[in-house]
Amino acid sequence: MSGSPFFLGRTYDDFLFRPQRGRVGSRRAVRLTGAFTRGIPLELPVVSANMDSVTESRMARAMALEGGLGVVHRAMSIEAQAREVERVKRSHGWVVEEPIAIPRGATLREAREVTRRHGVTGLLVEESRGSGRLAGLLSQRDLPWSAARDAEPVERFMTPFDRLVTAAPGTTLEEAERLLYEHRIEKLPLVDDAGVIRGLITKSDISLARERPDSTKDGKGRFRVAAAVGARGDFLERAEALRAAGVDALVVDIAHGHSDVMEHAVKALRKRFGDLELVCGNVGTAEGARFLVDLGASAVKVGIGPGRGCRTRLETAAGVPQLQAVHEVWEAVGDSVPIIADGGVRFDKDIFLALCCGASSVMLGSLLSGTDESPGTVILDPATGEKRKIYRGMTSPQAVFEALYDDAGTEEADTALETPAEGQEVQVAYQGALRDLIQRIRGHLRSAVSYGGESSLRSVRAKVLAEPEAFLIPLSAASRRESFER
Ligand code: XMP
Repeated sequence: MSGSPFFLGRTYDDFLFRPQRGRVGSRRAVRLTGAFTRGIPLELPVVSANMDSVTESRMARAMALEGGLGVVHRAMSIEAQAREVERVKRSHGWVVEEPIAIPRGATLREAREVTRRHGVTGLLVEESRGSGRLAGLLSQRDLPWSAARDAEPVERFMTPFDRLVTAAPGTTLEEAERLLYEHRIEKLPLVDDAGVIRGLITKSDISLARERPDSTKDGKGRFRVAAAVGARGDFLERAEALRAAGVDALVVDIAHGHSDVMEHAVKALRKRFGDLELVCGNVGTAEGARFLVDLGASAVKVGIGPGRGCRTRLETAAGVPQLQAVHEVWEAVGDSVPIIADGGVRFDKDIFLALCCGASSVMLGSLLSGTDESPGTVILDPATGEKRKIYRGMTSPQAVFEALYDDAGTEEADTALETPAEGQEVQVAYQGALRDLIQRIRGHLRSAVSYGGESSLRSVRAKVLAEPEAFLIPLSAASRRESFER
């Protein structure tokens, strides 16, 4: 049999952590670093799930800002998903390398549409489409409030080139800050000697970079983001478009990752994209994890059926209790690749337990789905006055139906709709800003590390993995009641 008997049949509510002598002076000093893949370290090892009620660009951006990461879901067209990834990549880093520009002859209507589609507040204006020669800058303030003049060309409203403050490519952060302040401006286009656009620096991006040094960024200072692909159909085209959009990692996400379908997909992806970071899942066993590592996965996603919107265990009897799965996978592959514990987290202590028992990051779905940053609108229950949002499993009938809506009538759509659902829809309490929720999680993790007698999560993890029985107390039904019933 695989896996330690101590974890057999166990999950989060089955253990308490035995408190250790505290060694932390200030909780703020506690380090929580983990990793998504070997190439993507995280200051906060928390990842938002690739679900259509959890992660699009807004969530991914907010997660990266907090030191975590978001995985953009794939229940949308290839173009739409690539655009979501681009939005995240474009929105940070103190230099926007390829800023969006529209030609001076374009209409205001077109300008409004472009700003909305790309989620930006201002646009560079170029002499003619694709020329790259800077003609001016159209900021939000230049746009009239009413749509009455929407058919007029942008050049009538922009600040023209000769009145713009610009800088050369390669301008330092300090120099950019000085120019922005000296001229009391918010945007600094970078142009070369020929007047061609080479980048854009904005005040808000510089402020973010200064204020949030722990956010998850790539080598160029842009936010990191991952995106999901499937293992059939157009997955290679999707992967290609996501790579072109600048994605930092692809997550090959299928319900049963220990499968022939996964093998074919990963081989094809590796052949085409070489060393792009490929997270693979889901699996719940030692054999499944070894299979993925042998295929060349850059990280293994673990979780068969623990998710809140998930009915797999109920409908098929397949599944592995989540803490057993995480530990069993760690025993099998160690730290050769990071392990992502996906699903089943209901309390912040579950995140700590997953990370202590082998995970390097934890993926959250329902816990994040009530925040402002998740897709979907806030519903007000007229009977109770409570605010809620919708959370749904990706194979719930509602999610499947909407994802396939555009393809209605095709064979793929018909097959998917005929497959009985293994996911369901629920309403979750509205939570407000993600930042507040993440601050709570961070605080609880720091307290947990302090009870763990160390000053970093990594050292508690190393201690527990070396000797789990010394630190984890298995609970009886009575002690579980005493602990969790409130
Ligand atoms: P939590 O518990 O954090 O779980 O909401 C999020 C994870 O649940 C998985 N997921 C599903 N599993 N049927 C399933 O069997 C589904 O329809 C489904 N939708 C999501 C997924 O791994 C996610 O990250």
